[in-house]
Amino acid sequence: MPSEAPIGVFDSGVGGLSVLAEIRRALPRESLFYVGDCGHIPYGEKSPEFIRARCRRVAEFLRERGAKALVLACNTATMAAVADLRARYPDWPIVGMEPAVKPAAAATRSGVVGVLATTGTLQSARFAALLDRFAHDVRVVTQPCPGLVEQVERGDLDGPVTRALLDGYVRPLLAEGCDTLILGCTHYPFLKPLLRALIPADISLVDTGAAVARRLAALLAERDLQAEGPARPTRMWSSGDLPALRNVLQRLWAETLELEPFDDRGY
Ligand code: DGL
Repeated sequence: MPSEAPIGVFDSGVGGLSVLAEIRRALPRESLFYVGDCGHIPYGEKSPEFIRARCRRVAEFLRERGAKALVLACNTATMAAVADLRARYPDWPIVGMEPAVKPAAAATRSGVVGVLATTGTLQSARFAALLDRFAHDVRVVTQPCPGLVEQVERGDLDGPVTRALLDGYVRPLLAEGCDTLILGCTHYPFLKPLLRALIPADISLVDTGAAVARRLAALLAERDLQAEGPARPTRMWSSGDLPALRNVLQRLWAETLELEPFDDRGY
């Protein structure tokens, strides 16, 4: 793959834009292709088989467009599909993401860590393995958050419905004594301002976007694949309703972005 080729970034919807922003910050010379499978959210309530099939389609789409690396900017998709994709494309750099249990376990002072994530992530074998590896000395309280992803997809980051949902999810974690909350879904960083307003100031929030961007940068450097730039405009494909998405993007993405339909017929 030539080093000026784009990086492919993928999420079930707009959540991965929180990761794309970190990638843009860390790697300003890279051209970025982003696919949001907005027509099929929420992945968190779908079967692993369904998610794997969607991930294969999107991965093929991005490979056909020359992506030199793939970022699964989605915890749920990583849990269900990263092993499958790595087995299919052993030479393609693929970066996945998982809830930040290790850094949260290191940071907690109360010894109780809360994880906000999708049902799919929390039920996955990879998440159980993550707890086995990194959560020996802490208590981890998990909280599935159905409905939150849909609110972010609508661009409703602070309305009464979003507030009530988020409050209902975070309150039990605080009651359990959590002082560190893991944002284990890439949609949730967009809710940080609202979350901050709902929780005491000394509660830490941990997410993985910046770590993913660092990992990607390291993989590109190892393989001598860094672009020299200038970056081409970011392109986004979505399987959802484009006019509605254009409105939502005004709240979620500051840069210009070329938006096109993700039409996966023929895959
Ligand atoms: N953004 C995805 C994640 O990080 C989940 C979204 C969904 O449920 O579709 O887990």
